[in-house]
Amino acid sequence: MLSHLSLSYRLAVTLLLVNLALGLLFLHVKVRETIAVKDESPGLSMDDLRLHFQGDPTVNRLQFMMRGRMHDKFASPDEMDVILEWIAQGATREGYESDVAPILAQQCISCHGPEGEQSRCPLTSYEQVVRYTQMLDTGISYETLADASPLYLVGLATMAALMGLVFYATRWRGRWKGVLIALPLFCAAANVLSWWSAKQSDFFTWLVYMTGLVYGLVVIAMILITLIDLWILAEEKPASLPSKS
Ligand code: HEC
Repeated sequence: MLSHLSLSYRLAVTLLLVNLALGLLFLHVKVRETIAVKDESPGLSMDDLRLHFQGDPTVNRLQFMMRGRMHDKFASPDEMDVILEWIAQGATREGYESDVAPILAQQCISCHGPEGEQSRCPLTSYEQVVRYTQMLDTGISYETLADASPLYLVGLATMAALMGLVFYATRWRGRWKGVLIALPLFCAAANVLSWWSAKQSDFFTWLVYMTGLVYGLVVIAMILITLIDLWILAEEKPASLPSKS
């Protein structure tokens, strides 16, 4: 029983819970900063996840970068509109030379020219720039998924297992205790497995969303119940809890 532990052990368990809570918090920040920003509306939505996994085949790499990380490189939004309009009109060589090249020369070449930090992705000729208008956004790559899967699966499952072990030792004897302990473990596996089908299927994209949400909520609930058991109910002795040995 957690409540019978000495003060130093209870502090140690609390520190473990703090670490788990921080892990969840950083995961939340990461999702908010990298995935929730994909569509215009704030917060994580199905649209964000769909764009993250499946991409948007109507958007090319140049548009994607201009609207995203490069948007502050323009002197004014009008400049970006000129280039977007040029793409919409078919990205012709004439249009490039008269309208687009001057803007790129002024705002982009310092980095995307032969001397710049991004000389690997140059924007100094028509051919180079048009190449980026032909690259479509197909979402996260299988390579990235393969990179991230082992790390996330082990991380999420370890977190869920540690939380489950601590939670098991609380005095709470609800019928749902076993289900609560199993749920995050199930969600961890289902979440990471679903990534692999989310590129083709909206159902699995939705499953990523739901299993992620349930994982977070259940772990938070277990942390709170455990803290209450450790500190707030700590002094109450078993009289009212006959099932205890
Ligand atoms: C201060 C330096 C800097 C300036 C100025 C700059 N960029 Fe970039 N650009 C970067 C960096 C760094 C990256 C790589 C960032 C990344 O992939 O997240 C990048 C990536 C890109 C890419 C994707 C390249 C690829 O191979 O995937 C495009 C397209 C792009 N920039 C367009 C532009 C345009 C258009 C402008 C001018 C309006 C511009 N950039 C101005 C630094 C700059």
